[in-house]
Amino acid sequence: MTSVDLAARVAELIRQLREHNYCYYVLDDPQVSDAEYDLALNELRAIEAAHPELVAPDSPTQRVGAAPSEKFTKLRHPVPMLSLGNAFDEAGLNAWKERVMRLLGADAALAWVCEPTIDGLAMALTYEQGRFVRGATRGDGELGEDVTTNLRTVKSVPLVLQEQRTENREQRTENREQRTENREQRTGHSAPSTEHQELHSEFSVPGSVPTQIEVRGEIYMRTADFEKLNARLAAAGEKIAANPRNGAAGSLRQKDPAVTASRPLRFFAYGVGPFAGVELYSQWQLLQYLGALGFPINADARRFERFEEALDYCRVWMSRRDSLAYEVDGIVLKVDSFAQQEQLGVAGRDPRWAIAFKFPARETTSKLLEITVNVGRTGVITPNAVIEPVNIGGVTVRNVSLHNADYISERDLRLGDYVMVKRAGDVIPYIIGPVTARRDGSELPWHMPATCPACGTPLERIAGEAAVRCPNFGVCPAQLVRRVEHFVSRGALDIVGVGERQAELFVERGLVRDLADLYLLHAESFAGMEGFGPKRIANMLAAIEHSKASPLHRLIIGLGIRFVGESAAKLLAARFGSLDGIMAASEDDLVALDGIGPVVAASVRQFFGLTQNRELVEKLQNWGVNPTVEVVARAAAGLLEGKSFVITGTLPTLAREQAQALIERHGGKVASSVSKKTSYVVAGEAAGSKLTKAQELAIPVLDEAGLLALVGVGEIDNGAFKIQNSDDEPTTN
Ligand code: IVH
Repeated sequence: MTSVDLAARVAELIRQLREHNYCYYVLDDPQVSDAEYDLALNELRAIEAAHPELVAPDSPTQRVGAAPSEKFTKLRHPVPMLSLGNAFDEAGLNAWKERVMRLLGADAALAWVCEPTIDGLAMALTYEQGRFVRGATRGDGELGEDVTTNLRTVKSVPLVLQEQRTENREQRTENREQRTENREQRTGHSAPSTEHQELHSEFSVPGSVPTQIEVRGEIYMRTADFEKLNARLAAAGEKIAANPRNGAAGSLRQKDPAVTASRPLRFFAYGVGPFAGVELYSQWQLLQYLGALGFPINADARRFERFEEALDYCRVWMSRRDSLAYEVDGIVLKVDSFAQQEQLGVAGRDPRWAIAFKFPARETTSKLLEITVNVGRTGVITPNAVIEPVNIGGVTVRNVSLHNADYISERDLRLGDYVMVKRAGDVIPYIIGPVTARRDGSELPWHMPATCPACGTPLERIAGEAAVRCPNFGVCPAQLVRRVEHFVSRGALDIVGVGERQAELFVERGLVRDLADLYLLHAESFAGMEGFGPKRIANMLAAIEHSKASPLHRLIIGLGIRFVGESAAKLLAARFGSLDGIMAASEDDLVALDGIGPVVAASVRQFFGLTQNRELVEKLQNWGVNPTVEVVARAAAGLLEGKSFVITGTLPTLAREQAQALIERHGGKVASSVSKKTSYVVAGEAAGSKLTKAQELAIPVLDEAGLLALVGVGEIDNGAFKIQNSDDEPTTN
């Protein structure tokens, strides 16, 4: 063959292979056998090996071209990837629809697009001049990870965009109908209402490839593929994934793209980020357009003009979720028109134009084998159920918290009972109640022990609370272990090298009888203790030493005073400057602080009212703990110096944290409740009692624009804001 013929042959092979891939992975309708596919692929490989100059970057042989990488670099999403608000029942969906109608006007022409919510990982894929150039995970919505080379290996991710032949699209509709029939045969359910728009509707789809487009969608694994993968991994002695979602996440985040290539990952496209060179005006049109460009789109998506039909769709799929080839956790409902979407905008992180309807949680029965009790840091006793291990939605559940004795007696849970266990999505599992019909009389009632299992002290029930506690505060070894764990934890003194196991050992060996004893540890303390090599001991002692100069608020957190979290600790540190200062403060001094309420103040007084805690502070000081008081960096202008704010409701563009940071940068303070001391209340949508209180007390109320104007910030644009004060770096959030 001449080189011209060869180049033409390469082009033809690439065309054929692409077509086969598309039919196989996108249309789910293979046109050739695996053997035929391999034959073409091998021919292409052979030519490319002999003529490297003919290797096209988008050749199907190049899906696994890249070398393994050490880590994934971060990519900033040009437009944040939002999350979705949830509705758990029809009332929630109706409330959402009412809000949409209220905001758009009762006579607005509305249409709704419903799509199953695939349980996978959200991705943003960028195409330039029709070529896949970049792919990133959602990350926190702002910053994702660059997983381009791994995404290239996913066969249903097109490397090149092109208008697909129309037969293909018709073909896909037929396949869908075929699949629906199969499913009906399997499940005995009938298809949802046929009064919907099919994907090959009369909507006008742009006939060209965009110059630039960011396609958003979900990387996922089919349930059957996931099970095969797990069987393969188990046979190879490797770690198996808990559920398809984790399987997909683990497969995508491999350092070596060749490993990702060997995993059965798939992609569904359902959204769009920034784009250019094409006109798009609705979600439904977008889906068709993405399909036309060669992306897999969900064949079960539907568009409805009556909301009642959308509700029907949700009902039908709720009963049919198991007939899908992949796991779904519900249905996403979207307002179809992009113009209306824009009009509705975003509240916090959630668009007002879409909502996730969650299917009910998964439930199973298991046997209640035993109830153990756990002693917490403040002495609270928590009963835990040990159940016969069960798999619920892909996660094995063995231990379930029972919260408190009332929880058990209210449900009349007995040892030996069969119990209903529920796990909703990522929510921790819990026990709904006993299956009384399965009782055989051998079940035994359970009683909270009368004494602490760790120290034997009689337990007390605090009036008005469900909790039972061990009152041997600060001495009970179980409490002490938890207190040490808390003291060294990241949010507190952050002593690296001391964790749960070390805390248990120190207490058990009598090395630590109160928190201050940590500072008396020395190399010899660990003589003969397993797992403590010289290097380890040196690092640990260095970390303990280093913690002596921690910021004061961290030490306050570390003491574990009830109700005193980070924000209260910061306020106390800033106001009183030392532990002595706080100990000397009266309850009145404490409540005078904006942001410290009567409950916190009483708890602080109670804590330091105990001799052992005063002694603890004295010891900490004697052993050289000398915390620093941080001065919070502020905008030089200090425009809001001495002003106190309360934020309530959802602001149109700023997340609450962003608004708080903005106020603090300008010297203001943010408190959680409205009082006479409040200077301004910043109110957004759905502001409640705090707004009413502000009005009662005649405190000025600002909206977001008012707040921004107050600090001299302008140019609010699509959730991005710029700080325009001369002393500030321009920032974009
Ligand atoms: S739309 C601004 N559509 O669900 C709205 N999300 O709960 C962005 N998901 O982060 C999401 N299928 O990972 C949308 N058809 C679908 C979806 C879908 C699955 C995931 C996605 C998103 C999460 C939100």
